[in-house]
Amino acid sequence: MEQTFGGRLRGYRKGKHLTQQELAERIGVSDKTVSRWESGRGLPDLALLEPLGAALGVSVAELLSGECVTNRNRAGNPLRGRFYVCPVCGNVIHAMGEGSFHCCGVALPPLEAEVPDETHELTAEDVDGEYYVSLAHPMEKGHFISFLALVGPSRLEIVKLYPEQEAAARFSKRGGGILYACCNRHGLFCRKL
Ligand SMILES: [Fe+2]
Repeated sequence: MEQTFGGRLRGYRKGKHLTQQELAERIGVSDKTVSRWESGRGLPDLALLEPLGAALGVSVAELLSGECVTNRNRAGNPLRGRFYVCPVCGNVIHAMGEGSFHCCGVALPPLEAEVPDETHELTAEDVDGEYYVSLAHPMEKGHFISFLALVGPSRLEIVKLYPEQEAAARFSKRGGGILYACCNRHGLFCRKL
């Protein structure tokens, strides 16, 4: 993958079999402007990044970072999915395939789920035909479980939690899956249900 913005732009344009003129027309600039960007003598306006990405069939994140995202698994499989959590605002993203995700100006790496230690042990009980999932974990402002999730082969349930709440949630009982707990300080933990 080309390291410069201009080089990537040229690569994406050629991949789409577009001339500089054709790309320029699609986003409402002159072919000289596109030529300037590709040769590194200028960068597009922020407002042009979305239409540029759309014309080239790539996301703005791919255009800017050069991270190439390919999904062989077109259908998406929740069980192979990954969680991404924004360290700035706490936004939670779950992706069923490869992706490049940004939030609050930060590129988010996928969280690697670990086997729970004693503090992050996940208990699941059958209560009234539902799974009652809980942890004996602090729920203080600086250290708490920020979400619990149950991921099945065709279903994803996320329960967002906040400090002072109970570290527990109920999930519908439809077969097994993978239980996840995310601690704001220690990361993601999982166990099979
Ligand atoms: Fe923790």
